[in-house]
Amino acid sequence: MSQSAVEKGASSLSVPQLYAALEKELARARESKTYKYEVPIDGKQDGVVSVQGKNEVMLASNNYLGLANHPRILEAAKMGLEQYGFGMASVRFICGTQKIHLDLEEKIANFLGMESAILHSSCYAANEAFFAALVAAELDMSNYKDMIYSDKLNHASIIDGIRLARIGTKSTESRPYNHGDLNQLKQFLEEDRSSGYRTRIIATDGVFSMEGDYAPLAEMVSLAAKENALLVVDESHSTGVLGATGRGTPEQCGVHGKIDVIIGTLGKALSGAAGGFIAGKKPLIDFLRQKSRPYTFSNTLPPPIVCAASEAITMLSEDDSLVKQLHANTEYFRKEIKRLGFTILDGIHPIVPVMVGEAPIAMDMSDQLLKEGVYVRGLWYPVVPKGEARLRVQISAAHRPGDLDIALGAFEKVGKRLGVIK
Ligand SMILES: Cc1ncc(COP(=O)(O)O)c(C=O)c1O
Repeated sequence: MSQSAVEKGASSLSVPQLYAALEKELARARESKTYKYEVPIDGKQDGVVSVQGKNEVMLASNNYLGLANHPRILEAAKMGLEQYGFGMASVRFICGTQKIHLDLEEKIANFLGMESAILHSSCYAANEAFFAALVAAELDMSNYKDMIYSDKLNHASIIDGIRLARIGTKSTESRPYNHGDLNQLKQFLEEDRSSGYRTRIIATDGVFSMEGDYAPLAEMVSLAAKENALLVVDESHSTGVLGATGRGTPEQCGVHGKIDVIIGTLGKALSGAAGGFIAGKKPLIDFLRQKSRPYTFSNTLPPPIVCAASEAITMLSEDDSLVKQLHANTEYFRKEIKRLGFTILDGIHPIVPVMVGEAPIAMDMSDQLLKEGVYVRGLWYPVVPKGEARLRVQISAAHRPGDLDIALGAFEKVGKRLGVIK
């Protein structure tokens, strides 16, 4: 109910009316085909999973390196459980810090070429933490304004982080720029150069999850330096994925170690369970340890997750074979799906958007693919623009070539049946 309705004394909903209103809203979502259904998996996440006893090639998970069930990761998690216990029943600063938490933070920072890192319970929490804490900093300036420039396709957690920052300080402004539009970003930065902002922050996803494209970080690093802005990159879909050794979009763009702040997840390539982090210069990370609200008021990461994520980084540091496998699988799938006549968004990332046009086709196609042994999800308006409905394929190092061939065969069959390809 709006504030003005409250002020006018409009009658409030009874609790049963509230539930009825919620039901109505859900029915509307079902009718408009925006209701999100869950398709439960019988067992473990992998390159091939079981759904109601039937094998499905998994093309929808963020398990990019296939570590979610890798024997070394399972071993590390078991060791974590046995040596360090299940949980710490505390936030970090009370009694929730073990040496393994500090070691993992150091390992993340070293792997990404950063000075320091701080764990959070998720990347979502890390994004909410970062913007709100930084702009609320007093920093010896009483009358200030901050500005955040944000790519319009940034992840929901960056958007929410910026919202929180704006609510928290009332002196934070944001200018969303068109997706990947460096000229517009440059124009905004130039226009604001003498506006007296205390801190200017450029926030971007490294890889954009609906498109599978990546931010032009080399240019963004130069622009940020020229304009005295802090460059913040969410590497959730990039760490372990892009770059010859999996060090992410900065490595891909030749600017490893040159990003001001990297925010990331442990819930995708880096073992796939949960957890997030912020990496950057030491004073910034030390400051967040004092001021991040999700860090201060929410439980520490459980030891089995910490040990598993740590093992994931050890594996990536020792050897790039999984990254190479992921790249080879991605190249193969991208080439073959195009050969079948499908339109995809070109690129190099294992997120391969297969464009099918209107929402009903994407819905039918994902349903029929499931029947043909492929687990893939469709995306349609309002998640992506109207007429740009797609199946978002995600390739993994866990796929064997035979798995991808099964998936391609099913795409060909269903694509022809639905008239998406000839
Ligand atoms: C770009 C991006 N940032 C943040 C997140 C949230 O990560 P987590 O699951 O660790 O909260 C996601 C997850 O989908 C993401 O794609």
